[in-house]
Parts: sequence; C-alpha cells; structure tokens
Amino acid sequence: MSALSIPPPSCLLKPFVVPQRHMFGPGPSNVPPRILEAGAKPVIGHMHPEIFEIMNEIKSGIQYIFQTRNRMTFAVSGTGHAAMECAIFNTVEPGESVLAAVNGIWGERAADMAERIGAMVNTLVVPPGGYLTISEIEKALSRHRPVVFFLAHGESSTGVLHPLDGIGELCHKYNCLLLVDSVASLGGTPLYMDQQGWPMRSESIGNLQEKFSH
Ligand SMILES: Cc1ncc(COP(=O)(O)O)c(C=O)c1O
Repeated sequence: MSALSIPPPSCLLKPFVVPQRHMFGPGPSNVPPRILEAGAKPVIGHMHPEIFEIMNEIKSGIQYIFQTRNRMTFAVSGTGHAAMECAIFNTVEPGESVLAAVNGIWGERAADMAERIGAMVNTLVVPPGGYLTISEIEKALSRHRPVVFFLAHGESSTGVLHPLDGIGELCHKYNCLLLVDSVASLGGTPLYMDQQGWPMRSESIGNLQEKFSH
C-alpha cells in the first residue's frame, strides 16, 4: 500500500467538544436530555419489527399534538425543507394551480418549490409582519382555484403567528388541500386540526389516490 502523503488533520485527533448554549431563536433549539439519550440508543434496521412499533408510537404522538384522528398521519424522516418538498411534490402535478400566502420567506420558498415542478403558482403577498384576512384568502381561492393552498402558521422570518380559524372550511369549500407549515409553531401554540375542520374528506383522499395511481 502506498504511504499516505496527507497526514490526519490534528483537529480530528482531539476529543469532540460541543459547548452548552442557551438558544432562544426559532431554531435550532435546545434539546431536552431525555431526547438526547434516545438518540444514543442502538441503531436498528428500518425493517425490524420494533421499528414498526416505534413508528406507530410516533404516529400516535403526532396525532395527539395535532389533535387529529386522521389515519393518514406520518412523520417524514428529514428536515422541515424535506417535509415541505414531500408535501408539495406528492400533491401537485406540473401545470396545476398552487396558491401560496407570502408574508415572509417561507411562503416564498414554498412558491419556489412548486414552481420548480412546473406548477402554475400564484402568491398572495402581504408585507413582512402582516397577515391575510379570511376574505382575502377566499377571494384568491375563488380566483385561482388551486389544488393546494400553502400557509406558514409560524412565519419564523418575521415572528408572525398566522390565524388559522376558518381556513380549513374555506379550503373544503373550494376543494383545495391546505398545507400548513408549523415547523416554528407546533408545540408552542395550540394547533387542533380536527377542531379547525382540516381533515381531508374521503372524496379528497379518493381524488389524490386516483391522481397518483398512474
Ligand atoms: C417556518 C419554517 N418552515 C420551514 C423551516 C425549514 O426547516 P429546516 O431548517 O428543518 O429545513 C423552518 C426553519 O427554520 C421554519 O422556521
């Protein structure tokens, strides 16, 4: 074997040290010790029976925090961006209409993602720090007839918590899926999906299954 001409970097020979910091921003945030300890548990395969049990427990936890009995509840193993892409790419097809509420960067980002897959994207723009009224949202839904309406619940770039009451019902009225980004709000403020009339009705689930069965 030839000799290594590049020596191991001395920084990698030192013990790995991460300082304790108090983080008060929208994210990253401090992780409780109980969660850190769970991260140190042994790794098992994604097809081991215990994993299915763990995933079911996670699903029950998510149903609890979102206060929903919707059986189509699951965790996406990845970042917030991964979940946004997963939601948009699995509900929108090229050429379809998407409406994004933009009152900060997350609405812009959702609009970018939908544009990249060739959707016809319309935005409802309000200045950063602002929010949309129900009548403004209804006007845009009736005009653009989107398949998906995106809204950031906790718009972390401005600190705005967007009101959600009534929007689920509006989306049912215009037969449109409601995609809510709660990355920065979940756990900090109530988000009661069933009470807010969000669950997909069986006809919408049927439409989605039909759309993606080809
Ligand atoms: C409102 C909101 N949506 C989405 C994201 C993206 O999450 P991630 O950084 O995990 O990709 C963030 C991250 O700060 C966020 O605040």
